[in-house]
Amino acid sequence: PESITVQELANRMAARGGEVVKALFRMGVMATLTQSIDADTAELVVNEFGHRVRRVSESDVEQGLEGAVDSDTELLPRPPVVTIMGHVDHGKTSLLDALRKTDVAAREAGGITQHIGAYQVTIPGGQKITFIDTPGHAAFTAMRARGASVTDMVVLVVAADDGVMPQTIEAIHHAKAAGVPLIVAVNKIDKPGVNLDRVRQELLQHEVIVESLGGDTQEIQVSATKGMNLDKLQEAILLQAEVLDLRANPERGAEGTVIESKLDKGRGPVATVLVQKGTLRQGDMVVAGAEWGRVRAMLDDKGRQMKEAGPSLPVEILGLSGVPTAGEPLTFVEDEGKAREISEYRQRRNRDKQAAAAGAARGTLSDMMA
Ligand code: GTP
Ligand code: MG
Repeated sequence: PESITVQELANRMAARGGEVVKALFRMGVMATLTQSIDADTAELVVNEFGHRVRRVSESDVEQGLEGAVDSDTELLPRPPVVTIMGHVDHGKTSLLDALRKTDVAAREAGGITQHIGAYQVTIPGGQKITFIDTPGHAAFTAMRARGASVTDMVVLVVAADDGVMPQTIEAIHHAKAAGVPLIVAVNKIDKPGVNLDRVRQELLQHEVIVESLGGDTQEIQVSATKGMNLDKLQEAILLQAEVLDLRANPERGAEGTVIESKLDKGRGPVATVLVQKGTLRQGDMVVAGAEWGRVRAMLDDKGRQMKEAGPSLPVEILGLSGVPTAGEPLTFVEDEGKAREISEYRQRRNRDKQAAAAGAARGTLSDMMA
């Protein structure tokens, strides 16, 4: 249920906190400034003060943020977004690095790569694949909590010499919970005496049935360090992408997700954003989580200045009012007033939530001491 702290309610009515506490007391409600009261009680207080209540609901403020539904003809194919997961030391980073080296666009860009949380490779055939580099990241938890999914599929790295381990199982559960398909990359096949059948049987026990056992999960044997079969893995990803028929309308205001964010000493708030729908343009007004701003500059993972970024492209953006939380949505907004309004609303909501949480914590503490 909605709630508000007494102090915040007083602020919004431009009343003294003490007066609000007194009014509550007269109504039989004992509350201090930092405590939260529910919306109905707040409304009574507001009436008491002779104001009229305008409850601003999420849908009022955020209305219009949900873009129009795209028609079939507007939906164009977009590159797959892939997350690499697996047990510690099974070779996730090595595989990401190896895949990155196959990027023909990076060579054109002079090979200077940034370390941002996501990157896109162009494979020799010209197709593109986006990899997210932050599987263990808080962003994932945040995104899952919101029910949002940024990844289209998971590449599960299993070291051939080690087999299925606790984090392998965790990754399987993660993919299943998110409802995204898995591709198994059996890594380290350059090592002598690896037993592939054992790995397959272990996967089977966790309901991941590879094609050679009659299932529909693709299994590719790779060596990240020797660069073996990376092309086969990429083909498998593109095949899976075809099955998923991944599409987005590039001709609309951008919608995306913040993958990571930081405060940069020289550049201010920097957010890595995965564009999921539409096209993000330099100069666009956006809301990102509880922050807003005009996109002052955009860089891709090769450090190139971008004027625009379409679906499935990860970019770093500069120009936000603050550092947005990873996992939160980014949305194009027509005008500055609207952007400010949404941002203020979300900041207030976050503060109320924090206050409510703090209030609840104090409640339990005093209960314990009673
Ligand atoms: P964490 O980030 O710690 O979870 O590990 P990771 O999954 O990213 O593994 P990483 O890429 O760091 O590799 C772990 C070790 O395995 C390193 O010493 C790598 O050199 C080695 N390794 C990775 N891939 C291969 C491979 O294909 N063959 C062999 N022989 N060694 C590999
Ligand atoms: Mg690693």
